[in-house]
Amino acid sequence: METWDAYRARRNVREFSTTAIPSEVLDQILEAGRRAPSANNRQPWDFVVVTERAALEDLSKVWVGAGHVARSAATIVIATPVENGADAMSHAEFDLGQATMAMALVAADHGIGSGHALAHDQEVLRSVIGLPPTHRGAYVLALGFPSAGPLHPIERLDRRPFDEVVHWHCW
Ligand SMILES: Cc1cc2nc3c(=O)[nH]c(=O)nc-3n(C[C@H](O)[C@H](O)[C@H](O)COP(=O)(O)O)c2cc1C
Repeated sequence: METWDAYRARRNVREFSTTAIPSEVLDQILEAGRRAPSANNRQPWDFVVVTERAALEDLSKVWVGAGHVARSAATIVIATPVENGADAMSHAEFDLGQATMAMALVAADHGIGSGHALAHDQEVLRSVIGLPPTHRGAYVLALGFPSAGPLHPIERLDRRPFDEVVHWHCW
């Protein structure tokens, strides 16, 4: 897809077909996250890829809103170093958001749907992916081809109106 089409086609997908994601496509999605910009180029992320069904089912218990992880073809756990201090934490959150969006966009470019969820229960992550105590899980990004059919650019998205959001020259 063209970038603009992929951007408009991305939406949160929570129901996935059983089709596997080709490994070179999964690599490209992860490479998009690795290339994301970050404050001081600190790159405060590690990506743990889970593809085994039993592990995906266990991982879906990480948060009440993560049930779709169990049905995904692959889920990326986005982990970050445990930080002290509000500034470091807020920078990391911003950076993780950018990496997540980059991966979601490249996924959409390949027709792959993605679904965020909070990585809330750290004990689930310690047991399912062996997350070390130096790191915490921030988000999970579930991936797979949408069971409802291919992604298409969304013409009318559920968003605040352009003229309400955009202020020219002053508020
Ligand atoms: C930081 C963040 C956390 C989210 N957590 C969840 C979640 O736990 N479960 C879920 O189903 N969706 C989650 N979402 C998806 C949002 O609900 C969704 O992106 C939003 O409603 C807009 O819909 P769209 O992505 O289809 O445009 C999350 C999104 C973000 C950015």
